[in-house]
Amino acid sequence: MVKAICISQPGGPEVLRMNNVSLPEPGPGEALVRHHAVGLNYVDVYYRIGLYKQPSYPCGIGFEGAGIVEKVGPKVKEIKPGDRVAYGQSPLGAYAEARVMPAERLVKLPKEIDFKTGAAMMLQGMTVQYLIRRTYRIKKGETILLHAAAGGVGLILCQWAKSLGVNVIGTVGSDEKAKLAKAHGCKHPIVYTRDDFVAVVKKITKGAGVPVVYDSIGKDTFERSLNCLSPRGLMVTFGNASGPVPPFELGTLAAKGSLYITRPTLGTYVAKHADLLATARDLFSVVRSGRSRSASTRPIRSRKRPRRTATSRRAKRPARRC
Ligand SMILES: NC(=O)c1ccc[n+]([C@@H]2O[C@H](COP(=O)([O-])OP(=O)(O)OC[C@H]3O[C@@H](n4cnc5c(N)ncnc54)[C@H](OP(=O)(O)O)[C@@H]3O)[C@@H](O)[C@H]2O)c1
Repeated sequence: MVKAICISQPGGPEVLRMNNVSLPEPGPGEALVRHHAVGLNYVDVYYRIGLYKQPSYPCGIGFEGAGIVEKVGPKVKEIKPGDRVAYGQSPLGAYAEARVMPAERLVKLPKEIDFKTGAAMMLQGMTVQYLIRRTYRIKKGETILLHAAAGGVGLILCQWAKSLGVNVIGTVGSDEKAKLAKAHGCKHPIVYTRDDFVAVVKKITKGAGVPVVYDSIGKDTFERSLNCLSPRGLMVTFGNASGPVPPFELGTLAAKGSLYITRPTLGTYVAKHADLLATARDLFSVVRSGRSRSASTRPIRSRKRPRRTATSRRAKRPARRC
């Protein structure tokens, strides 16, 4: 019996309910993980409000956590009871004291990385890995545009990009966030509520534009992000914080300079177990080496703004199905 956050219909934060649920025995290929911390992500909001569809209700929520394996089912080879593990891409249901989940989604957590950091960085950090190493491999000396630079994904991306010698132009919603982004390696924070980010990007790049835009805002920024790209530049639209991008005329890409566009998700990039392990390994090496540290910032492993976490407690009330 464990406590878990469940939702029985899409809606506002009020649909999140704490229930007591019973845990099944792990079946073939599954592991029971007792969480020490779980991560909260913007994508959880999309699922809660119904923008991304749940398979059925009631259901759990959350994709990210870290803890200790208590039991494994048959045919689980790489993970054993007692292992410290973390994950950032699982079936829904991470907001729980413990859960049974596919063992192949788990990654062993290096001993230098604590559970809270593990739970806070897996989804956002692996997202940054695929965005800047695989969707578009950013290169030393380049200048790129990133929206929500002071957010969870944003702060990791700023640090990682700076460590690679890449100049980040980052949009943020306030002066306070501009300071935070700058302290994490964003070279040119732009407070978009005050300044026109297209004009600022053109000024910084002397009219050339940037080779890539990482846009997780969606509807509100899409068109203007395209206007920041250099010819044959890549638009990476990877989120919908302001709402999904509406259908658009493909000819726009030609008119604005033979642009490329992609709409990636972490799920695709870590779908194969080997890719998941390689992505996590790359992230762990950056975190362990402190490569993201700069004179005025902390490394990813001790971020300034700790993420909210849920710790384990024993359930007392009768069981329900989530
Ligand atoms: N495709 C993928 O694989 C993938 C994986 C992980 C995350 N994501 C996406 O990446 C984005 C960042 O995720 P995160 O968890 O790190 O969240 P986050 O950046 O911490 O939060 C989202 C930020 O978006 C900005 N924003 C701008 N317009 C907004 C609006 N209309 N409503 C709400 N927020 C708005 C806000 O920052 P300002 O106030 O500074 O504008 C807000 O803090 C999300 O869109 C998420 O869906 C995508």
